[in-house]
Amino acid sequence: MKIAPSMLSCDFSVMGKEAKRMEEAGADLLHLDVMDGHFVPNLTFGAPVIKCIRPCSSLPFDVHLMIENPYDYIDDFADAGADIITFHVESRSDIPLTIEKIKSAGVKPGLVIKPKTPPEAVFPYLKDIYMVLVMTVEPGFGGQSFMADMLPKLEAIRDEAKRQGADILLELDGGINNETVIEAAKAGGDICVAGTAVFKADDAKQAIEQMKKACSDY
Ligand code: DX5
Ligand code: ZN
Repeated sequence: MKIAPSMLSCDFSVMGKEAKRMEEAGADLLHLDVMDGHFVPNLTFGAPVIKCIRPCSSLPFDVHLMIENPYDYIDDFADAGADIITFHVESRSDIPLTIEKIKSAGVKPGLVIKPKTPPEAVFPYLKDIYMVLVMTVEPGFGGQSFMADMLPKLEAIRDEAKRQGADILLELDGGINNETVIEAAKAGGDICVAGTAVFKADDAKQAIEQMKKACSDY
């Protein structure tokens, strides 16, 4: 299991240091939650902030756009140094055009589904994307409880991807800790995003190691 700490739970006064700290703690990717106060009822940071953190870490930047019009901002996030850009199927942007724009910018595209969205929503795009992010909480805030009833979506997406011959990664986001990471692994997840469980731990390195160890048998 790969672990992607979510910078939503970091100390915003020292984001560069926090990014570096996660790399030293053994993170596989850095997850960056962009919220616009419209698509979700919260505001975080945008491309200029991500650009500022970029030199502080060599980890892949996994940018999760919780914004109404992702299409309009793709070039900004690519320029800021995103390696993966995921956007919501529930956003207002045209899905195929946005995927194309991400690819043209040299970035890996991914689609995200909210808890109430069925897995079928991503089926038409599986061949064109790198990753599907399944939300295991309502997007907008860190520190919420894991929704285990989202897990069957992973199998549905995995099966359909196989049927189509599409090679995709499955990422889970929200409420991941030492216990829920095991459920995510059993359900076939490849990457788990963890905010609270990593940043609020006394020892981030130990927290990441424990999560990886907990699901190493699956
Ligand atoms: C929620 C964000 C998540 C969040 C996860 O909208 O997409 O990435 O930061 O935080 P925890 O791990 O605390 O649930
Ligand atoms: Zn996220």
